[in-house]
Amino acid sequence: MFGVIGCGTMGGVILEGMLREKIVPPEGLLIYDKDTGRTEFLRDKWGLKATSDAKVVCREADRILIAVKPQNMDELIEEIRDFLSEQLIISIVAGMQINSLLERAGKPLRVVRIMPNTPCLVGEGMSIISRGKGVSDSEEELVKNIMGALGKVIPLEENLLDAAAGLSGCGPAYCLLVLEALADGGVEVGLNWETASMLAVQTMLGTARMVRETKEHPASLKNKVTSPGGLTSAGLLALEKGAVRSSMIEAVVEAVKRGNQLGS
Ligand SMILES: NC(=O)c1ccc[n+]([C@@H]2O[C@H](COP(=O)([O-])OP(=O)(O)OC[C@H]3O[C@@H](n4cnc5c(N)ncnc54)[C@H](OP(=O)(O)O)[C@@H]3O)[C@@H](O)[C@H]2O)c1
Repeated sequence: MFGVIGCGTMGGVILEGMLREKIVPPEGLLIYDKDTGRTEFLRDKWGLKATSDAKVVCREADRILIAVKPQNMDELIEEIRDFLSEQLIISIVAGMQINSLLERAGKPLRVVRIMPNTPCLVGEGMSIISRGKGVSDSEEELVKNIMGALGKVIPLEENLLDAAAGLSGCGPAYCLLVLEALADGGVEVGLNWETASMLAVQTMLGTARMVRETKEHPASLKNKVTSPGGLTSAGLLALEKGAVRSSMIEAVVEAVKRGNQLGS
């Protein structure tokens, strides 16, 4: 049985991804959320089993996805500690290191930690997974398949997870800021917002796909579209004057620093 504790935004998306891709059949899922409206909605939509007691999930499931907010973890662990032993724990709780989860549980558990990002909502997520002690290759493979239903997945050592969080975890917000600014630029030179935003979205999407598909370094692709004394060269000069490049680097560095402060 596959259990899910916390069926909010991310828990719900992962759950529905598993069902859509038939990674787990509806009868193989048991869900629990404090918000009973949420579990009832998912139960009725997919024909799943739901419970109003987290301990029932722990008793019946051999793999458990935990998708509650970090501030709810102490309360949850307190409630289920005595019922945790052999199950594989899959945690998407941001900033909670595997050791910290084990300390809270007060016992050795097999844990896989996942760091997803919001584009998982549209099947274009970037998820990082780190496996703790005792997790088998096949269990890691299962988690890769689950997150693979929602985008790309790569395994990384846990000590690099916080670095990845500053990039792919927070990255959607940085990309949105750039996207919005690009569209604002279009408005400034006379386009209406709908047109400007469509141009900005498709330009970012197309550029990202071009990098992914050609596997060329971004600088090399950039040089190909920058002719001497041309429009792009003038635009790039404005970006360099505005220190966009170093601001982006600093954004990742600062996010990682904040993550370390919050985690300690
Ligand atoms: N959203 C993201 O982009 C993102 C990305 C990476 C990681 N994460 C991580 O994913 C986790 C879930 O985030 P989310 O955005 O999905 O949050 P969310 O939408 O608030 O979902 C969490 C759900 O868990 C429920 N809950 C709270 N305490 C519980 C308990 N003790 N037992 C069972 N259910 C409980 C909440 O119910 P109530 O609302 O009634 O409290 C809520 O329905 C967080 O740890 C977050 O850091 C999120």
